[in-house]
Amino acid sequence: MAEPILKAIGVNKSFGSVVALSSISFELNAGEVMGLVGDNGAGKSTFIKVLSGVHRRDGGDIIFKGKHIDFKSPKEAMDAGIETVYQDLALAPQLPIYANMFLGREIMKKGILGKLGVVDKDAMRKEVKERLARIKSHLNHVDQLVGTLSGGQRQAVAITRAIGWGKDVVIMDEPTAALGVKESRQVLDLIKDIKAHGVSVIFISHTIPHVMEVTDKIHVLRLGESVAHLNTKDTTYEEVVQYITGSKC
Ligand SMILES: Nc1ncnc2c1ncn2[C@@H]1O[C@H](COP(=O)(O)OP(=O)(O)O)[C@@H](O)[C@H]1O
Ligand SMILES: [Mg+2]
Repeated sequence: MAEPILKAIGVNKSFGSVVALSSISFELNAGEVMGLVGDNGAGKSTFIKVLSGVHRRDGGDIIFKGKHIDFKSPKEAMDAGIETVYQDLALAPQLPIYANMFLGREIMKKGILGKLGVVDKDAMRKEVKERLARIKSHLNHVDQLVGTLSGGQRQAVAITRAIGWGKDVVIMDEPTAALGVKESRQVLDLIKDIKAHGVSVIFISHTIPHVMEVTDKIHVLRLGESVAHLNTKDTTYEEVVQYITGSKC
């Protein structure tokens, strides 16, 4: 068995006297989708913020591609290969799709003009079109302003941006929470597609049927602790809910 691409061992994090994470452990293999579930306040967002360099952990180990890591900023995590799609998506509504895909990483024109800071819009458009063609995205018009897109399409922009950087791990914090049935379906299909491309996904969701559908394994947090590591095919909706609510320990 190959080494997990990402592994956490006994990760702790407190905010003052609030213990948000207590000895959290998991293993994620390449091309695997892990559901991260738990009630409000269970520690899901804190945990992914630790993984993505937003928060520093107080203790424990995180091993990514065989190396111990301690990201000091989100940029360090992104440079290493961990991309996160946050609940607020961090998109610029006044900019078109292609520009959002390159936010903070714009392609500059080569030669003398590059020094003047001129962005190469055509190169970015071309690259984004190629990316969209590689995945089952429902986005067609790269010049459309993000502010005019539906919630599902915006989610798709944020996810496509994350996977567009050739990343090893994409973390998604409740990507379907604000979406309707059809749009949720598109995001779930996108997750399956990402997995088919060998990228690993950590998928946070309160919608257990979605978690049952797209994940290989499920990690349940309760009050900052890891209470269950389940293989999706060996568990049931009912069992997952029992672990979340604490009727099963
Ligand atoms: N920046 C913060 N400062 C203080 N407490 C926090 C902070 N972020 C999260 N917490 C606390 O940590 C716990 C876990 O929160 P969170 O990770 O947001 O849970 P979840 O995403 O599972 O709903 C909660 O008790 C929350 O109030
Ligand atoms: Mg949260």
